[in-house]
Amino acid sequence: MSVPYVGISVRGARGAADLVAAVEREVKSGRIAAGCRLPPVRALEQQLGISKNTVLAAYDELVARGLLESREREGFFVSAREIIPRVAPWKEPPAARLKPPAPLPGRSTPGTLAISSVFIDADLLPRERLADCARSVLRNPGLEPFSDFQGYRPLREAIARRLQARGMDVHEGQVVTTTGSQQALDIIARSLDVRRASMESPVYPHARYLFEQHGLTLAGLPLDPFNGIDLADWEERLSTFRPGMVYAITSFQNPTGYSYTTSELVALLEMADRYGFALLEDDWGSDMLSGSEYRPSLRLLGGKNVIYVNSFTKKLLPSMRVGFLVASEDLIPSLVSAKRLSCLGHSWLSEATVAEFLDRGYYDSHLGALQKELDARYQACLAALSELMPEGVRWTTPGGGPTLWVDVPRSVDLGKLRQRCLKRNVLIEDASGAFLADRPLHGFRVSYAFAPAEKVRKGIQVIAEELWTR
Ligand SMILES: Cc1ncc(COP(=O)(O)O)c(C=O)c1O
Repeated sequence: MSVPYVGISVRGARGAADLVAAVEREVKSGRIAAGCRLPPVRALEQQLGISKNTVLAAYDELVARGLLESREREGFFVSAREIIPRVAPWKEPPAARLKPPAPLPGRSTPGTLAISSVFIDADLLPRERLADCARSVLRNPGLEPFSDFQGYRPLREAIARRLQARGMDVHEGQVVTTTGSQQALDIIARSLDVRRASMESPVYPHARYLFEQHGLTLAGLPLDPFNGIDLADWEERLSTFRPGMVYAITSFQNPTGYSYTTSELVALLEMADRYGFALLEDDWGSDMLSGSEYRPSLRLLGGKNVIYVNSFTKKLLPSMRVGFLVASEDLIPSLVSAKRLSCLGHSWLSEATVAEFLDRGYYDSHLGALQKELDARYQACLAALSELMPEGVRWTTPGGGPTLWVDVPRSVDLGKLRQRCLKRNVLIEDASGAFLADRPLHGFRVSYAFAPAEKVRKGIQVIAEELWTR
């Protein structure tokens, strides 16, 4: 492989002397560092319209002066022997001013049990079948060089059919594919022409920080998963704060595992009507309910004005990053334009692979097996909690999804508990970023989908021991 070369300003050079002077100026200024390759003779011959011999004569002269060295079959290089002080006649430009990073949790290190992880155990994911689908997609002779800005149409059609089977009135023109539901939230947030939004507290922190980064003012709607939603309190807050939009995670809410009852969904829809706010429903957990049973959703009950977000990431392969949003036709142009500005188009290979996976019926059989395993892990997790946790600790019983909430007595110092567990290689995620309003809860997420039941039990045992000995 030929070594890349640096471009030098030699425009206008007519003869060997001009070329020697130009290269000498560039090298001595320190702008071209020792060891850089100079343009090949043929390149300068073409660019400057001077003969090969003229260029060679100039390069030979520069070698003789010790500025360049010639390497056989590789070309001419700035001499490493010539120690040229690296001068910087230019000034460093001011550094870009960035917003401070959101306080997102770090990645767990190998050997640590990330007990709050929302991910599903990679061993339960259908990697072989996905690879089969990807191979078959790549063999397709009709590869499209450009993607549809709204998303791969066969996938949008398959998504619409799946939602129709759940009673929603959706067609492919209302679906926009995204790189995971996180990008769906981002596209919506950047398109919104509202300044205030409300959301559950605690809430999925990556959504909270995202909306904040887009400059929205947020207010929390306290969610106590042990007692359900205090609708009068929510109404009071919504009628005072007057958000332009409410973001709600209606199934297996992250982080509490709470699922809205039908009457709570209806009450929220009625408040949307009374106080004039839009609804954004994040349905991340609905496919993780056993028996393929679906709970009603805001989108189902409230119709097309509810913006709906869901994703294949957790259930198929997180790194494939395929998710989607559904919105009414009149919102689609703005959302697609925001998506275009963000990523130009979809990743065809990932989306076509997921479409193929759905088309072959693999997704439903995979979900069936996955739900069975998640059910077993969930039951084992509940059994471990009942057996090991001390008096005064309580937990939610979501009945599906990947995670539940464990609440501990207020006297427990959560920071110290996390530190002690981490010393024993159990990582409890700090949930403080999830709270926007007063804290009805004092605890953390415990997940059962990310690891086999025995491992989760060991993690719970460590937490329980640390709680006993505090
Ligand atoms: C409630 C909720 N919404 C959205 C997401 C984003 O998921 P993804 O972008 O992987 O689809 C997550 C991720 O954990 C989540 O918990």
